Amino acid sequence: MCALLQRRVVNIRAELRTKLSAPVRVKVGSGELEHVILNLVSNALDILDEARVDQPLIQVSTRISGHEAILRVQDNGPGVSPKIRAQLFDLFASTRRDGLGLGLWLSRHIVERQGGQISLDERESGTGASFTVRLNMVEPSLPPDQASPYLAR
Ligand SMILES: Nc1ncnc2c1ncn2[C@@H]1O[C@H](COP(=O)(O)OP(=O)(O)O)[C@@H](O)[C@H]1O
Ligand SMILES: [Mg+2]
Repeated sequence: MCALLQRRVVNIRAELRTKLSAPVRVKVGSGELEHVILNLVSNALDILDEARVDQPLIQVSTRISGHEAILRVQDNGPGVSPKIRAQLFDLFASTRRDGLGLGLWLSRHIVERQGGQISLDERESGTGASFTVRLNMVEPSLPPDQASPYLAR
C-alpha cells in the first residue's frame, strides 16, 4: 500500500485486515485497479477519522466466484449517509468539506469500462460501509501480454 495511506492508517490507529484469494489476472490495468482499491481504503480512512470511531477497522478481502474476482472493502464507520446514497457514484457527489467527489465516480468508470461492477452493499444501519467490486478474470488461455496483471497481495 502507498506510504501516504499507510501513514494515515497508523495515525488514526486503524487496523487493516486483509484476506486474499490466490493471485488472479483481471481485465483492468494494475494502475487503474490500484486507484480503485486505494480510493476505497482512503474513503474508509476519511470517515473513520472524521467520525472518531473507536477501534477503527478496515477489512479488504478478495475471492473468486466463477469467472469473476470479487474485491470487498468494509469499514466499521457510521456507514454511507442516506443523503448521498442515490448519487454516491456521481461526479462531484461528496459530503466532505474538502471532498472532490471524484474517487467513486472514477472508480466506477474504470470498473464498468471493463464490464465489471462496483456497488455499495446493503448492510444493517450502524455497521459501517461495505463496497464490492466485481471484475472479470482474464481467461487463463490468453497470452500474458494481452492481460493486465494483478497479483493479489
Ligand atoms: N466508507 C465510506 N463510509 C461512509 N461514506 C462514504 C464511504 N466512502 C464514500 N462515502 C461517501 O461517498 C462520498 C463520495 O466519495 P468520493 O467519490 O470518494 O469523493 P470524496 O471522497 O472526495 O468525498 C463521500 O463524500 C462520502 O459521503
Ligand atoms: Mg474519496
